[in-house]
Amino acid sequence: MATLSKRKRPSREEKPFKERLKISGKVFDDHTLEVLVKYLNSAVFKSLDYPVSQGKEAVVFRASGYRKTFIAVKIFKYETTSFHKVMDYIQGDPRFNVDAVKNSKREFVKLWARKEYANLQVSFKAGVSVPEPKHHRENVVLMEFIGVDGVPCALLEDVVLSNPKKFFNEVVENMKLCVKAGLVHADLSSFNILVRDEKPVFIDWAQAVSLEHPRAREFLESDCWNVCKYFKKLGVKCDAKELFDSLK
Ligand SMILES: Nc1ncnc2c1ncn2[C@@H]1O[C@H](COP(=O)(O)OP(=O)(O)O)[C@@H](O)[C@H]1O
Ligand SMILES: [Mg+2]
Repeated sequence: MATLSKRKRPSREEKPFKERLKISGKVFDDHTLEVLVKYLNSAVFKSLDYPVSQGKEAVVFRASGYRKTFIAVKIFKYETTSFHKVMDYIQGDPRFNVDAVKNSKREFVKLWARKEYANLQVSFKAGVSVPEPKHHRENVVLMEFIGVDGVPCALLEDVVLSNPKKFFNEVVENMKLCVKAGLVHADLSSFNILVRDEKPVFIDWAQAVSLEHPRAREFLESDCWNVCKYFKKLGVKCDAKELFDSLK
C-alpha cells in the first residue's frame, strides 16, 4: 500500500482527538500531544473528556483521573496571535527573564504557562482560594478541577448570588491574601472568579505579577475598580479607592 508523504498525512492522533472534542484552532500540535501522552502514560489522568472553555490563548479541558476524580487541563496554544499584548505583564517581573524568550513565540508560550503555574503555587500556598496546582510541563498546566460531580462550576458573571455582600467580603479577603503573598492578579473580574458553594475561586493566573513589577499598583487599582463595579450593581457598598488603599 502506498504511504502518504509525511506532509500530507494528518499529524499523529490529532484528527480523531480534534473531531471527538470539537476543537477549533491548533491546540493539538505534535509537541502538545507528546506532553498529553506522557501524562496519560504516567497515569496522571486517564482521559481528556471535553473542552470546558476555548479562549484565544488557551483551552481548558476536563480530564478524568482514576477513582472518579477530575482534573483541569489548561493548554496554552502555540498558535496564537495575541501574545504581544501580554508582554506588559511579564516584562518587569523579576521572577521571569523575558529576554531569553523574546525571539521565539513557542518559548514565550511555555514561559506564560510556567508563569500561570508559579502564580498558582504562590497563591495556593498563601491560602488564596485557587485551584490547587498539580503539574506543569511545557505549555500544559494541570490543576484541581473546580466542579461539582464532574460539572464545572459557573463563573461569577453567570450566577445569581444569594448574599452578594458576603461574597464580596470573601473576594476582598482573598485579594488581601494575594497582596500579602506579594502578588497582584491583574485581570480580576467576574469572568475570572468561579463560584463554588457560594464562595469565590480565583482562576486565570498567567498575567498575575509580583508586587515588584513596576506597574503592580496600577494593576491592583484596576482589579479594585472591576470588583467594585460588579458588586455595586448588586447593591453592595464599595469604594474602589478605599479598597485599593486598604490593600496596598
Ligand atoms: N480549574 C478549573 N476548574 C474548572 N473550570 C475551569 C478551571 N480553570 C478554568 N476553568 C474554566 O475555563 C475557562 C477559561 O479559563 P481561564 O483560566 O480563565 O482561561 P482564559 O480566560 O485565558 O481562556 C474559565 O472561564 C472556566 O470556565
Ligand atoms: Mg479567563
